[in-house]
Amino acid sequence: MRLGTPFTPNATRVMLLGAGELGKEVIIALQRLGVEVIAVDRYADAPGHQVAHHARVIDMSDGAALRALIESERPQLIVPEIEAIATDTLAEIEAEGLAEVIPTARAAQLTMNREGIRRLAAETLGLPTSRYAFADSLDELRAACAGIGFPCLVKPVMSSSGKGQSLLRGEDDVEAAWAYAQSGGRVRRDRVIVEEMIDFEFEITLLTVRARGADGEIGTQFCEPVGHRQVSGDYVESWQPQPMSEAALARAREIAAKVTDALGGRGIFGVELFVRGDEVWFSEVSPRPHDTGLVTLITQAQSEFALHARAILGLPVSTEMLNPGASAVVYGGMNARGIAFEGVAEALTVPGTELRLFGKPEAFERRRMGVALARGQDVDEARARAAEAASRVRPVAS
Ligand SMILES: Nc1ncnc2c1ncn2[C@@H]1O[C@H](COP(=O)(O)OP(=O)(O)O)[C@@H](O)[C@H]1O
Ligand SMILES: [Mg+2]
Repeated sequence: MRLGTPFTPNATRVMLLGAGELGKEVIIALQRLGVEVIAVDRYADAPGHQVAHHARVIDMSDGAALRALIESERPQLIVPEIEAIATDTLAEIEAEGLAEVIPTARAAQLTMNREGIRRLAAETLGLPTSRYAFADSLDELRAACAGIGFPCLVKPVMSSSGKGQSLLRGEDDVEAAWAYAQSGGRVRRDRVIVEEMIDFEFEITLLTVRARGADGEIGTQFCEPVGHRQVSGDYVESWQPQPMSEAALARAREIAAKVTDALGGRGIFGVELFVRGDEVWFSEVSPRPHDTGLVTLITQAQSEFALHARAILGLPVSTEMLNPGASAVVYGGMNARGIAFEGVAEALTVPGTELRLFGKPEAFERRRMGVALARGQDVDEARARAAEAASRVRPVAS
């Protein structure tokens, strides 16, 4: 692998499909290696646009528009940062040899649909998951819920960040869950998945990286487990390492290795797992950096973003953790464009902290606008510091 010079014919060109806060950090890591980056999002001035060599705005779910952009920009690597992409077009582009899709076009196809990844994990690989069923109508949903039992969860198969998801306590909740799923899915008239509710002790993201080793072969390495807390399908804080039994950790790694082997390619994966005692369930996987992994910006020698950048370029990686740490989300707290942040200096007086403000042009009440990061002697100290720092940042209308 040789790396070129940006803006010359030998440039190493990478296209990010999605340029949010996670893409922004991947781009910064690529920039440090002299990679020429084309950042793509569906709105102007997205976080990643602001740090890339080229900023493009298209509807990435429009296959024709996506193909036209790829043909004109000619990147060597295409790096999806979001799920809502015309993945069939990516599969064609990969098959034509036009560009390499990270980690693979098939991984992007399978994971953008809960049905694809669930069937692969549970039915093909035999991994432990919650019991599940699919439904295409309200009547089918009633039957599916009766089969799975209550409490259960209903989710559109094409959705993310908790959109359209409901927790059902009994039969009376089915109709509202169906209606909510139809409004929250990425496409209209979406199929839904019903999942048995797992009574877990805690949930983790096991960041797993597939990268080329010194022997030239692709190997698998694991970061220390990231613990996190979700509120209405969105993560509010995460920490590393999450303490867990040796047996559970071994099981988690075994599950993560199986699912990432099956998806293939190079790059980082966020494997979401539920844990109770020594028992571990597979939940879902992102074939890309995971939002809960923002904590690795302050805990690891190579953050999940640096790991992704290195792995996709065919370079060696290290998942070494330097110190325990935590992240806490800073929300918009209002619906407004061009907001400002006060209290930043007060936030950064909390020992061992850093702040990332993403630069999003528009804030929403519950939109993630930044994240406070903290290191600590242990996870408890780091969590307290991150939460304190985040609470001191005050979004204000300008
Ligand atoms: N079967 C389940 N049992 C218990 N909790 C669940 C289950 N499915 C989802 N959850 C909770 O909801 C969160 C979001 O669900 P997830 O399937 O990861 O959706 P998304 O794709 O929106 O992240 C999970 O992180 C977990 O906290
Ligand atoms: Mg999830």
